[in-house]
Amino acid sequence: MTGLNTLIVKLLPFFPKSFVWLFSRRYIAGKTLDDAVEKTKTLNASGYCTTIDVLGEDVTSLDDADAAKRECLKVLETIQAENLDANLSLKLTALGLKIDKERCYEMTREIVEKAGKLGNFVRIDMEDSSCTDDTLEIYRRLRPSNSSVGTVIQAYLKRSLNDVHGLIADGIAHLRLCKGIYDEPPEIAFSDKEEIRDNFMAMIREMLQSRAYVGIATHDRKIVERSFDLLVSMKADRSDYEFQMLLGVTEKLRSQILSQGHRMRVYVPYGRQWHGYCMRRLKENPRVAGHIMKNIFIRG
Ligand code: FDA
Repeated sequence: MTGLNTLIVKLLPFFPKSFVWLFSRRYIAGKTLDDAVEKTKTLNASGYCTTIDVLGEDVTSLDDADAAKRECLKVLETIQAENLDANLSLKLTALGLKIDKERCYEMTREIVEKAGKLGNFVRIDMEDSSCTDDTLEIYRRLRPSNSSVGTVIQAYLKRSLNDVHGLIADGIAHLRLCKGIYDEPPEIAFSDKEEIRDNFMAMIREMLQSRAYVGIATHDRKIVERSFDLLVSMKADRSDYEFQMLLGVTEKLRSQILSQGHRMRVYVPYGRQWHGYCMRRLKENPRVAGHIMKNIFIRG
């Protein structure tokens, strides 16, 4: 399957965008904020909360970063105006992390402070390992004076458990935990599935033990089931954690988790840059192409 997935990824750029859209649209709310609002309303009506993500990353100019910042502020205002149960996820490279770190910090601060004023929340996504230190540095600067911000830690990175310990020790751990989506070298990342799962579970345990709010972001049934056991054995309060999933992925498992009374947040991406986003995600992780193809054929 790996060879086939890689082949699909290599061929996709030669397909017309309209064809790629056919199987990307299930994972993306649409091209506009209105689309994300509509999707969130539907999900809210079924009991899910969401986190809205403006597609885009690795901008090449500060003007583009500023435009991304303005869009993020608009998302927060719209969530308030439409009374949605949603928060915002953002990527620091969309705010110019790789161009000017200090400007990126200032822009992120503006967004986080706005979220605070509106009683909302911003989750800083974690990107590839070239961004880990800078992302944690910006988070560490922001969080002490803003409870309206959290970040993400990836279970495949060997450093992550240490990072979690450090953030907990400093009283600033408000984390989404996930496996990690980028292709990282073996010197810094686990590749064995069980090792990643064990690290994921160790981090969840640490977070629950210190009653730091944790978002368990996975579609992996094994991690979900192990988390259920841990939540029971640690007598976790429902207000200490939530589950999170990407839009359009494992919807059956998603509704099973919700129906058992756990909080479930759906990641809702939108934006005109959907094509580049999908292509990059597919190149980074050709396995996703396999999931997509399976979905096309299973769903006809
Ligand atoms: P796994 O990859 O084993 O997937 C389990 C099953 O879910 C698969 O067998 C398949 O059926 C299905 N599945 C998983 N991903 C799919 C997809 N994209 N399309 C279709 N089916 C899919 N990563 C990161 O590096 N930084 C981040 O900030 C985030 N943020 C984030 C937010 C949220 C809400 C989620 C759910 C995930 C992320 N991720 C992320 C991605 C994460 O790191 C990871 O790559 C994916 O969640 C896949 O890992 P799973 O734990 O789901 O297991």
